[in-house]
Amino acid sequence: YMNYRVPRTRKEIFETLIKGLQRLEYRGYDSAGVAIDGNNNEVKERHIQLVKKRGNVKALDEELYKQDSMDLKVEFETHFGIAHTRWATHGVPNAVNSHPQRSDKGNEFVVIHNGIITNYKDLRKFLESKGYEFESETDTETIAKLIKYVFDNRETEDITFSTLVERVIQQLEGAFALVFKSVHYPGEAVATRRGSPLLIGVRSKYKLSTEQIPVLYRTRKMKRLDSSTCLHAVGDKAVEFFFASDASAIIEHTNRVIFLEDDDIAAVADGKLSIHRVKRLASDDPSRAIQTLQMELQQIMKGNFSAFMQKEIFEQPESVFNTMRGRVNFETNTVLLGGLKDHLKEIRRCRRLIVIGCGTSYHAAVATRQVLEELTELPVMVELASDFLDRNTPVFRDDVCFFISQSGETADTLLALRYCKDRRALTVGVTNTVGSSISRETDCGVHINAGPEIGVASTKAYTSQFISLVMFGLMMSEDRISLQNRRREIIHGLKSLPELIKEVLSLDEKIHDLALELYTQRSLLVMGRGYNYATCLEGALKIKEITYMHSEGILAGELKHGPLALIDKQMPVIMVIMKDPCFAKCQNALQQVTARQGRPIILCSKDDTESSKFAYKTIELPHTVDCLQGILSVIPLQLLSFHLAVLRGYDVDFPRNLAKSVTVE
Ligand code: F6R
Repeated sequence: YMNYRVPRTRKEIFETLIKGLQRLEYRGYDSAGVAIDGNNNEVKERHIQLVKKRGNVKALDEELYKQDSMDLKVEFETHFGIAHTRWATHGVPNAVNSHPQRSDKGNEFVVIHNGIITNYKDLRKFLESKGYEFESETDTETIAKLIKYVFDNRETEDITFSTLVERVIQQLEGAFALVFKSVHYPGEAVATRRGSPLLIGVRSKYKLSTEQIPVLYRTRKMKRLDSSTCLHAVGDKAVEFFFASDASAIIEHTNRVIFLEDDDIAAVADGKLSIHRVKRLASDDPSRAIQTLQMELQQIMKGNFSAFMQKEIFEQPESVFNTMRGRVNFETNTVLLGGLKDHLKEIRRCRRLIVIGCGTSYHAAVATRQVLEELTELPVMVELASDFLDRNTPVFRDDVCFFISQSGETADTLLALRYCKDRRALTVGVTNTVGSSISRETDCGVHINAGPEIGVASTKAYTSQFISLVMFGLMMSEDRISLQNRRREIIHGLKSLPELIKEVLSLDEKIHDLALELYTQRSLLVMGRGYNYATCLEGALKIKEITYMHSEGILAGELKHGPLALIDKQMPVIMVIMKDPCFAKCQNALQQVTARQGRPIILCSKDDTESSKFAYKTIELPHTVDCLQGILSVIPLQLLSFHLAVLRGYDVDFPRNLAKSVTVE
């Protein structure tokens, strides 16, 4: 955020930066940081002050106000501050690994980065050989060091900030959106992107010099910028610039934005914004227009969705694809989980697999137990972390223990992990959070790659955990001759999942209509067995936690041992009946329910004419391999719980009494 000739107090500058970060927090957070000017002397004499903190943006905010050296009332006519919230990809979340990253202890150059630099190891080696000392484990630090290297080795004294950045990005591979700040270029800002989004918001009470900024090319002598090639305010030039990877961070300040293209280098100096590129391509647009966004803040953050949970449900075609990306080879029918490959021999020799989690993560273990038993030919225990600990369950050094956790921070699961480690078992983490306690403390693991999950009710993490465990089973069975046909069938099923999920999501309206009928009920039973028992448990949990209705997942095989007594004309019952080895047994359960005048709503396969004859209502699902069907059958229940909660008037994303990450026992 840069204010140019617009007096702002340090407090206002902090608030703008922090608010912007909070608006981006939905992308995930594990640490955050800012770089601001350290004192209010002449612009040219300012040093850069960094404040970084592990945790969410609120933790950073609190930290900022603890800094004695920062007078909050001090006013800056011109100031440029940068801020970042991080979702770790390289290196654990801590203050050192968070952004801004810096060139040296004197903070000569600082940079914030969204994306991944794929050649950072080579760059780091090169820079280390030149004597640059690294302090973090991040790919981003190489960028900060590299710009200093280019600066230290400049051929002329008057090299511009944007030329330095231009040289830096010529060395970078991967994806990035970058914003730089430097003590050598006080009051100047440079930003650039390739593959990651970046936009610039402009706010001024004066008229702007242009609505179209012409793009400059290297051949046109970068140094000689005249006003006609820049955007600035006409009048006393007072203007504010906001650089952000998403409009949600800035929309409350301005709706006038410029979207940068790949390899654009945008620089602000003396209150004037210019954009340049190194090469001119025939297809290039010669200018960048200022656009006026029509959207509301809320809309941008959640897209067209009314809640994060809903957005995350609808993200599942992409999130399950991301879980498999680079791991499942559909041509060779092979699966490679990089984080497990070095331990595979040891896992194959183990006595048994113990899969441990809480809540939804536990349900992912239940859902995949049968296919894991089949593919690994090992005994598989599934355990709720708290109960596992309560029982002092015997664990041996030749056991392999899996810890399933979206957040990677759940206290019960973490304690169970430490318990198993003490007994020298091999520990495997399956988490959605790089650098979380569980991913750090386990011997090896799988990152489920579902992307940040914000809604408290877990949805896309479940389907990605499910797939991660199936992929593990497939990897374990690669050389089992007798299992090759089955493996091929499952891998084939995995390939078509994103499309089938889209088909299930298209039932949303029908499910909404069903919710209209059910939302005044007090109770809802969900019944099934075999591969779909976990769907019942998970569906009932979703209903409980966000609609506050009583709901129970019932194993259909247990029906006559008690739950049948609940069935009558009034009690709403959802039955999950799929074309799998349990089909005939599910038909029995259906008969028992209808014989007691129950009126079942049936989730069934599209081609199932038998079940639909007895149904009060049906939701018909596309067919996939039996052991993957649970991924499709859970989605209507996710949608149903969502619609029920909305109709009952509850806040879907923040259900009462619950937190996203349960870090207490
Ligand atoms: C349900 C839900 C919780 C979590 C449980 C474990 O929607 O979100 O039941 O699944 O608290 O959390 P993680 O997976 O973070 O260990």
